[in-house]
Amino acid sequence: MSLSAYNQDIKLPEPNKKGGMPLMQALNERKSTREYDSRKLSEQQLSDLLWAAWGINRPDGKHTAPSSNDKQEMSVYAALESGLYLYIPESLALKQIHNRDIRKETGRQDFVEVAAVNLVYVADLIKSGVSEPEKAGPEALNKSAINTGFMAQNVYLWCASEKLACVVRAFIDIPVLTKAMELAPHQRIIISQTVGYPKK
Ligand SMILES: Cc1cc2nc3c(=O)[nH]c(=O)nc-3n(C[C@H](O)[C@H](O)[C@H](O)COP(=O)(O)O)c2cc1C
Repeated sequence: MSLSAYNQDIKLPEPNKKGGMPLMQALNERKSTREYDSRKLSEQQLSDLLWAAWGINRPDGKHTAPSSNDKQEMSVYAALESGLYLYIPESLALKQIHNRDIRKETGRQDFVEVAAVNLVYVADLIKSGVSEPEKAGPEALNKSAINTGFMAQNVYLWCASEKLACVVRAFIDIPVLTKAMELAPHQRIIISQTVGYPKK
């Protein structure tokens, strides 16, 4: 069944943690791509991608990317054609936030509405321990931004290994995307990352 046929939460398959390209080769092939075709990713690819970004890789619940003081304040949302989803690493699920296609709102570049998925990295300022999180300015996001860099690089390397295209993007209309994602005031967008098949 294609993903667009779902109109609810998606249970993801177990991520495939074996194999992939040798690390040095993946580093050699990591790059940003801005031309995509509209082919969708499989549920296995989505599971692997999201596990690379922010999956749990140890019995104590820690993740594939580090976080400052182990606050684990980051969330990864996936904007797909079938709607907006929140990755739940504990249950390997995509919780549907709504069923609107907001890929276009994830960035100010044309390819974002063509590519299969746009990840949006969001920090929860309550979890990161910021006082008065609803009023906090951009300086409160410094550590979350660094955390996000590790997650986005994991995705770059996974994409290189899978011969998929990606680009991390800060060129976003933040108020527009915050509204489209129905985020609370203590939830702040850090950056987005487009992932999909490269245009042939
Ligand atoms: C913090 C950050 C923000 C970026 N924002 C954008 C963006 O909004 N749009 C875009 O097309 N590329 C964006 N990029 C990608 C860079 O332009 C890209 O990494 C750079 O041109 C080097 O190319 P490479 O990634 O292929 O080595 C961003 C990269 C970083 C690290």
